[in-house]
Amino acid sequence: MGMGCAQAAQATHLAEMIFRRKTKAVMGSDIVCLLRNRRVGRWAALLVAASVIGAGVAWGGTVVAPVKNVWAALISDGLHDPANPDISLLQEPGDSLSKLPQDYVGNKVNWDQALNEGYIDPRSKLQPQTRVRTLDQDTIMKNTGGTPWVRFPHRPHTAWLDCTTCHDSMFKEGPTPGLTMLAILNGQYCGKCHGTVAFPLSECNRCHSVIPK
Ligand code: HEC
Ligand code: HEC
Ligand code: HEC
Repeated sequence: MGMGCAQAAQATHLAEMIFRRKTKAVMGSDIVCLLRNRRVGRWAALLVAASVIGAGVAWGGTVVAPVKNVWAALISDGLHDPANPDISLLQEPGDSLSKLPQDYVGNKVNWDQALNEGYIDPRSKLQPQTRVRTLDQDTIMKNTGGTPWVRFPHRPHTAWLDCTTCHDSMFKEGPTPGLTMLAILNGQYCGKCHGTVAFPLSECNRCHSVIPK
């Protein structure tokens, strides 16, 4: 571990600022500090630890479905007005999302799997004359400063998005000038969607997935 509790708290704060959520590694050191400081009972800390592990990643890096996800109720999600009498007309997110393939980040649904396995069947176009275009091709990006290379897969993107969403306003069909991790963390390029409508930027290994040969 090697990190003091004060440093861990600072790291937690930084990580929250950057990713708007806690990263797993930082959460781990939090738990150690909780245990050390005995601010909470040992059992409570163990429960937190168990829930982090339960919501986590299987050994060997395979993503597993968490045991049980919980979604905030509409009245307490900070997005809806609890005083609005019509709130009772809306479906609770947990009612629908719990029936889809689960993930442990974002809104806790693996949308790629939900689409591929037929759980959902969204309309692919509004106008009959629209041409639906998909592409099953990966681009490997190697300017990753010693971290694993980035594999950008077109297939799961073009299942939801048209080419013009990204080309050429956001990405060139070749090296895109200005594409760096800092720009992504600032909400540009991949960061326009990842962390907003797709899995968050804290999941480094889902993009940095190719070990250089
Ligand atoms: C949504 C995909 C995605 C995620 C998630 C992601 N990265 Fe990146 N990262 C990229 C892309 C794309 C590049 C640029 C690669 C290129 O231009 O060849 C990059 C580049 C980098 C670089 C190279 C230096 C730089 O500034 O560009 C580092 C280091 C890096 N990422 C670290 C991380 C770390 C650490 C995390 C997790 C906290 C992370 N990345 C999460 C896509 C991602
Ligand atoms: C979510 C964004 C996104 C969508 C949607 C998208 N692309 Fe791309 N495309 C990229 C990125 C990112 C790259 C790599 C850019 C780089 O290397 O800097 C790329 C690269 C390419 C390349 C160059 C491939 C290579 O390896 O050199 C072609 C050709 C391409 N896209 C065609 C398409 C077509 C055709 C569609 C629609 C069927 C499409 N793209 C949809 C993001 C997208
Ligand atoms: C216009 C929105 C958009 C942009 C821009 C975008 N993505 Fe995605 N990405 C998505 C969506 C939507 C999904 C599917 C939902 C999910 O997995 O959260 C996805 C899924 C992925 C996946 C998972 C694929 C799988 O098989 O599960 C990877 C890897 C990925 N994106 C990498 C990238 C990288 C790298 C970039 C930038 C070079 C990027 N994305 C840019 C919207 C986007």
